[in-house]
Amino acid sequence: EASDAKKMIEAHELLKKFYHHLLINTKEGQHALDYLQERGMTREVIEQFEIGYSPHSWDFAVKFLKSRGFPLDLMEKAGLVIRKENGEYFDRFRNRVMFPIHNHHGEAVAFSGRILGEGQPKYLNSPETSIFHKGKILYNFHQARLHIRKLQQAVLFEGFADVISAFKAGVSNAIATMGTALTDEQARILRRNVESIVICYDGDTAGVEATLRAAELLEKAGCYVRIAAVPDGLDPDEYIRTYGLERFRHNVLEASGTLMAFKMAYLRKGKNLQNESEQIRYIEEALKEIAQLSNPVELDYYLRQLADEFSLSLSALQQQLERYKKTRT
Ligand code: CTP
Ligand code: MN
Ligand code: MN
Ligand code: MN
Ligand code: MN
Repeated sequence: EASDAKKMIEAHELLKKFYHHLLINTKEGQHALDYLQERGMTREVIEQFEIGYSPHSWDFAVKFLKSRGFPLDLMEKAGLVIRKENGEYFDRFRNRVMFPIHNHHGEAVAFSGRILGEGQPKYLNSPETSIFHKGKILYNFHQARLHIRKLQQAVLFEGFADVISAFKAGVSNAIATMGTALTDEQARILRRNVESIVICYDGDTAGVEATLRAAELLEKAGCYVRIAAVPDGLDPDEYIRTYGLERFRHNVLEASGTLMAFKMAYLRKGKNLQNESEQIRYIEEALKEIAQLSNPVELDYYLRQLADEFSLSLSALQQQLERYKKTRT
């Protein structure tokens, strides 16, 4: 119901402001503020992303929402409180750093709460609700949209901290999928706003695999994709904290390459190309990738590159390529 949705959003907006106040202005929130500042988050980005703190209490949100006249059964549907068997309610989010998640109109519709330090789950998220469909929302899209349109480019990250650190580095067109695989819906939303997307996922194995999937999906949606690879298995936030903003901009974002270049680098990893049999294996694997290309200009380009690099005849590569094309997946 429309009025229910309105109330659910209003509750999120009010709680967001209160959580933020607790983080910034109270003794209760001091350890959370310390935690964020140790992570390099400045007052400015804490304001910009409206980060907050949910207190160490089973009924802070319950009391807060009740006193403002929100029906608790509706608040349970909003994912903010949980109902016990005896009919009492308790807070979903306790003693966590709170990242509000906004819909594309800029209304708070969900939260993700990070544990302070180590522990499980690292992030606790609002469930799917009538106002929050995770697969249809991109984190920070509401703030980034105008910048994305102006710059005619979006930079796609995995997580909250990455978007926030990148923002500090001057990357205002940053958005994130919040850990889950990019959906068709999200790809379509992006394509409606911009053609050119830079994927900057975590440098670990999961991030590399997610990059390949996201790139494929975005290309299918009609986007022009580049990959900004983060080295040493770091994530963008860790990279920025280790090497600084300037090196991130220069060595990661501006050094972004094509999807094929990323795949080639991935295939090379762990291979000793001085070794003959490993070199041949690399060439075959690279050829299989090249065979998947539908754009003949691109195909020709990478084929020549491979021929040049290993001093092979183009015709030999072409012959082998034809075989792989027939087994195209
Ligand atoms: N995520 C989640 N639930 C988890 C772990 C991750 O929803 N239990 C989402 C969060 O949006 C997170 C993103 O997936 O930001 C990427 O996950 P990961 O790389 O593991 O976390 P980081 O963003 O690097 O988190 P941090 O830097 O705070 O450790
Ligand atoms: Mn709309
Ligand atoms: Mn990750
Ligand atoms: Mn990460
Ligand atoms: Mn991280």
